[in-house]
Formats: sequence, C-alpha cells, structure tokens
Amino acid sequence: SHLAVVAAKYSCGAPIGGAEHGPDALIDAGIFSEIESKTKYKCTIDHIAQSGTFGNTNEAHDADPDINGMKRPRAVSLASKQISECVYAHAREGKFVMTLGGDHSIGIGTVTGIARAIRERFGGSELSVLWIDAHADINTPETSPSRRIHGMPVAFASGLAQSPTGHSVFDWITASHLINLKRFVYIGLRDVDEAEERIIAENGIKAYSMDDVRRYGIVKVMGLALEYLGDETPIHVSYDIDSLDPEWAPSTGFPVTPGLSLEEGIHISRRLHATGNLVAMDLVEVNPLVEPGKLGTTVKSAGSVIQAALGVAV
Ligand code: ARG
Ligand code: MN
Ligand code: MN
Ligand code: MN
Repeated sequence: SHLAVVAAKYSCGAPIGGAEHGPDALIDAGIFSEIESKTKYKCTIDHIAQSGTFGNTNEAHDADPDINGMKRPRAVSLASKQISECVYAHAREGKFVMTLGGDHSIGIGTVTGIARAIRERFGGSELSVLWIDAHADINTPETSPSRRIHGMPVAFASGLAQSPTGHSVFDWITASHLINLKRFVYIGLRDVDEAEERIIAENGIKAYSMDDVRRYGIVKVMGLALEYLGDETPIHVSYDIDSLDPEWAPSTGFPVTPGLSLEEGIHISRRLHATGNLVAMDLVEVNPLVEPGKLGTTVKSAGSVIQAALGVAV
C-alpha cells in the first residue's frame, strides 16, 4: 500500500515563524525510511510551500493586508488550497495521506481535501475527524483573540467561518469540502478561549479535555470517542504535537502544561490504527526554532505517534 507524505512547509497562520521547518526535521530523522522497512507501505513525499507573492511565514506582507481582522488571509488561503488539492488527489486514489506541518492552519487544507475525497469515493459518506490538541482551533475571524488563522481551522473546515462579505478569499471551500461537527471529537483540550467554549457547546461537539483524560484514563476516553464515531466510518486524525506535555514535545509554539504523556499519545495512535478505518493523519506544530536543544525529544515523540498510527511497534 501507498503512504503519501505531504510536507506542508508553512507558518503564515501562526504569530511566530519556525513551523515551516517542521516537516524537514521529521523527514531528516528517518521516520519514513523506517516505516518503509517495517511496514508494507511505500512512501512518496511531496514538498509544498508558498511560491510567488505571499511568502511562507507569518511576517506582515504589504500584498496581504488583514481581512475581517484576520492576519495573512491570502497567504493562508492559498496555502490551504494547495494542500487541499494535493491531499485530495492522493486520498481519491485510496492512499493513506500523512501531512506534516506547518502551523495548524494547514488543517483547513487537509480536512477539506480528505473530506471531499471520501465523499466521492464512498458515495457521499462523511469523514470523521479526531482533533488531538491542547487548543480547540475553532475560533471564527469574529471571535479570535489573536486574529491568527492557526486558531481557526476547525471553523473553516466545518463552514462555521466563511469568506467575509465582499471578499472571495476562502471561496475555494465549497459544500463538498466541509465536515459535519457531529462526526468530530476533541481529545486533550486545556487552553480553550471563552468564545470557543460557547461554540463547542452550541454545536454539541464531543470533547474530552485533559481533565477528562485524567479522570477516566486514556483507554476509556479512546473507547468512548471511537464508540461515538462508530466503526463504519473513515477517520482522519489531526494531531497537534502540543497535545503532548511539554516534557515530551518542547519544540512547539504554544506549549501548555500539563498535557498527554507520550505513552497516552501513542495509545491514541495505536487505537486508531486498530480500527482499520484511519485514512489520513496530520502531525503539526513541530517548531525547530523553539527550544532547539530539545528538538530531538520533540521529533522522537512525533515519530512515535506517527509510526504507531501506521501499525509500527514503538
Ligand atoms: N486559541 C488561541 C487563538 O485562537 C490559540 C490557538 C493556538 N493554535 C495552534 N494551532 N497552536 O489564537
Ligand atoms: Mn492546533
Ligand atoms: Mn495546539
Ligand atoms: Mn488561552
């Protein structure tokens, strides 16, 4: 079988740069050569980054003024459109798609691209999404305190956030790209904005916080999450490395303590693999410029959760 690795080298959705170097740090550590030697997967790698007008990073850009308060809207829209088309093409052919970030705004691209491919492949059926993160990333341009789009991907991929009136900037997102928030589960939340709490409650979104993980244990939480989604559904996991405790993943832009242990993080991946329904994974927010002396620890943790999701014994 075929593993399509997509190196999404962007940080225009975040307030700090560095995440655009995440994919190469993971690839250079040999994670995918190891996967090829230990599994049946053949890997190909697409490297994508912005070219032309906008630039890859968060830096202010004359050609990309704020829209509806959003920072770097054109850059993020173009990046996520490129990613969406790339992952769509791979998933349409039945490949497992592994996207490496990049800041989490790339999730607009991955989730929309996979959702569209699944609709076409399985006669309109909807994708399920697990969002493993310290943060909910469901602000709309109107509610976001930071105005940064890495805090908004769930809102764009579900249609809660739309292209602001008078601007076609995110108009490439159509009904065929959108996910259903009834088929969506959070795990690991511990830094959620007030407006996000309200959005989660209003939309009845299933969410297991870090407190829930401590109360019930990760085994129970994963059981409940998978039972909620059912066993007849394709699953996409969008894994933010900051879901792990900073002890295990220090090189990330927005670490929040206390988080998942590496063992809990690996358990999530193993359970997802065991369903036989996992079709795509994102591993985002590895930032080699944060705590560079501990990048090795972060990359090793990321490698373990990636490999466990593909059935490698780690
Ligand atoms: N909730 C905050 C915001 O909207 C933080 C988001 C952090 N997201 C991330 N992908 N690291 O800006
Ligand atoms: Mn995130
Ligand atoms: Mn996060
Ligand atoms: Mn906060």
